[in-house]
Amino acid sequence: AKPDLAPTPPMGWNSWNTFACDINESLIRDTADAMVSSGMAAAGYKYVNIDDCWMAPQRDGNGRLQADPVRFPSGIKAIADYVHARGLKLGIYSSAGSHTCQGLPASLGHETADAQSWASWGVDLLKYDNCGEQNGIPATTRYKTMADALQATGRPILYSICEWGQNQPWLWGANAGGHMWRTTGDIANNWSSVMSLLDQQVGLEQYSGPNAWNDPDMLEVGNSGLTYAESRAHMSLWSIMNSPLVAGNDIRSMPASTRDLLTDPDVVAVNQDWAGRQGAKLRDDGDIEVWSKKLSDGSAAVVLFNRSPNVATIGTTASALGLPASSAYTVKELWSNAVRSSTGNVRAQVGAHDAAMFRVTPGAAADVAPMIVVEAVPTKA
Ligand code: GLA
Repeated sequence: AKPDLAPTPPMGWNSWNTFACDINESLIRDTADAMVSSGMAAAGYKYVNIDDCWMAPQRDGNGRLQADPVRFPSGIKAIADYVHARGLKLGIYSSAGSHTCQGLPASLGHETADAQSWASWGVDLLKYDNCGEQNGIPATTRYKTMADALQATGRPILYSICEWGQNQPWLWGANAGGHMWRTTGDIANNWSSVMSLLDQQVGLEQYSGPNAWNDPDMLEVGNSGLTYAESRAHMSLWSIMNSPLVAGNDIRSMPASTRDLLTDPDVVAVNQDWAGRQGAKLRDDGDIEVWSKKLSDGSAAVVLFNRSPNVATIGTTASALGLPASSAYTVKELWSNAVRSSTGNVRAQVGAHDAAMFRVTPGAAADVAPMIVVEAVPTKA
């Protein structure tokens, strides 16, 4: 049976968004060190994932995948040991076809041997892509065959299906052994890509749950194509959608402002809370959107999102969020940590391409003065 490795959305880092094929073992080791020293690990980011280009251009004499001798001269097992020694987990990559998307050897027809190699090296996660010749074999079969091979190794390996949403993997990914599945093509380091992926998530909420997460692709938070505000909006939205949180920036050199976006404990707590349904778009007024998610303690999370190029005042109410009637609510803005009491309005001035994110809890905050309207202005431009 599928191992229970993702009761909440998986969290980690992946090499692809920043480094593509420009990877090697010292990058992975230094990133593992930085995951710990930056506080990412303590915030819940566990997986260090090597994406495409780790493998040598040829299988070895026994038909086994081998690590690229230039990029990974110590081999993958040594990297796994290094990552494990820091309390982290190692992810690896292959494709359900003849070749990876970069033309390197992949796993169709080699599922058993490759799964055994990864298990023997101590790999903890497989991202399984959709490139290469597929010999007419349907995706459902190609992905299930690898799940069976992974499970047959006896090592618990989180299975991340990267089929780009082509054959609606939200309908079969869980039965094919997947813990998560990409719902779209690749994210890119720019705002319009992030917005396009966001729009493609609407309507998929019902398919997401423990060990079966919709994956709108890895984060571009902190990368050069997004402003600080855009990174904050991206993080807010991926968190409320219960997306796997897989950082795609250079952890070794990130500024504190990026680290704070990725590790905010209240925001991560919203992502990791499963109360029966993925967060969803509650209201869409063109450039103004309200996203919400019920939380298991009876509160609700809300993202007030401004896609427009101008500052906007955005509001919703406790009743629109589906919260029970109460004479007062405690409203915490999760990025600024401002806490207010409210009779039910939740309102913020939100900058261009930015988001405010709240947790709204029935009952007054004991230690703050009551206010009728909450104004929380996200800080920093
Ligand atoms: C595909 C995947 C990406 C990345 C690349 C690597 O495009 O969707 O996430 O893994 O392949 O080549």
